[in-house]
Amino acid sequence: MSQETLGVLGDLRRYLEKQRDFGLHAVPGRPAQSDLSKLDQKLQGCKVCSLSQGRRQVVFGSGNPNADLMFVGEAPGAEEDRQGLPFVGAAGQLLTKMIESIGLRREDVYIANVIKCRPPGNRDPEPAEVASCEPFLKQQIDLIEPSIICTLGRFAAQTLLQTSESMGRLRGRLFAYEGIKLVPTYHPAALLRNQQWKRPTWEDLQMLRREYDGAEF
Ligand code: URA
Repeated sequence: MSQETLGVLGDLRRYLEKQRDFGLHAVPGRPAQSDLSKLDQKLQGCKVCSLSQGRRQVVFGSGNPNADLMFVGEAPGAEEDRQGLPFVGAAGQLLTKMIESIGLRREDVYIANVIKCRPPGNRDPEPAEVASCEPFLKQQIDLIEPSIICTLGRFAAQTLLQTSESMGRLRGRLFAYEGIKLVPTYHPAALLRNQQWKRPTWEDLQMLRREYDGAEF
């Protein structure tokens, strides 16, 4: 397939993902997904912190706006910044497999990050950037109203749980974030580097599925 065809297919996929985010899955009594798209629109011009200077796109989030399960990662990387969608690089492909391993599809869940703009060189987000961006994640969670959140990696877990505990101590446990069940697990990018975390992650995903099945929707 030529580069040009691949480019067109990529554009089409992104277009369809945006359409799905904004148009489908409306469930009466659940958040108006138009509010989610309004928040997305508002953030597209965000200049609250200096990350706005280096980003190509604000990566708001994608998936089912009425999802019962929401995944929260750290911040967009280079590919996410290029496409404007979360978890579309190598780690994203592994995340898709993780979601499928518990019998769900990527389009069933909602995926977002704590930080909506790519930190230069993928450095760790700074406290001031977290302070600027976290309120937007909170608004997103309020609109989606998931029953369960799965945080991916230390940064997202520590931010939402307001803790400095290590990933090794956080994983394998069930928490609550503002009344929503929260299951922390390893970041898929970390799994690509550390094979030994695959088994604990598998166990976390089994717990996630059990809690998802037990959740009242
Ligand atoms: N890593 C993240 O934490 N988020 C993304 O969207 C991509 C990679």
